[in-house]
Amino acid sequence: MKKIGVLISGGGTNLQALIDSQGSVLTSGTIVCVCSNNADAYGLERAKKAGIPTKIIRKNADCGGDTDEFSRQICDYMKKMRVDIIVLAGFMSICGGELLKEYADRIINIHPSLIPSFCGKGMYGLHVHEAALEYGVKVTGATVHMVNEVVDGGRILMQKAVYIEDGDTPEILQKRVMEQAEWKILPKAVELVCSSD
Ligand code: GAR
Repeated sequence: MKKIGVLISGGGTNLQALIDSQGSVLTSGTIVCVCSNNADAYGLERAKKAGIPTKIIRKNADCGGDTDEFSRQICDYMKKMRVDIIVLAGFMSICGGELLKEYADRIINIHPSLIPSFCGKGMYGLHVHEAALEYGVKVTGATVHMVNEVVDGGRILMQKAVYIEDGDTPEILQKRVMEQAEWKILPKAVELVCSSD
């Protein structure tokens, strides 16, 4: 059984999907901790309700705004919790430094578009759906991929397409992409990684 550490920043619906999939889709790994860079993230409540230990590490307040220190503190916590695989489930900060080195090829991210469209620096959360609607694509979706030093550039594990409909707003589209794609492929992809090797 692999030990999974989840990093979040907000609502935590993808974290919830992972929690709910434990024992059904996700059978080769168990979530042992949830870490947030935002003290107000509702996902922290979801973790507490599920009895999962939580930790808050803020880049500015706890790490003096230093990216390397932020990365080191997250890495230290993950190691302390004996985490094997890290899942970025709506984590809105770029991770680098020690974390990427220590957990090379063991960090998974979910991105709300079909990579390589609408990804990279500055493309996160609602911005991604705004960009897709502005461009006028008819199909979007979600991608689960491994994390490396290139933002949204690691090996793709799974993707699922979602149709754009007339009258979509970024909020409506975000909800459809979550429901039809993200919450389905994230648990499957995490199981894939946990059950390999
Ligand atoms: C999700 O749509 C996730 O794919 C996206 O943020 C949202 C978080 O929602 N992540 C990114 O944009 C990362 N680049 P959640 O907190 O309810 O899971």
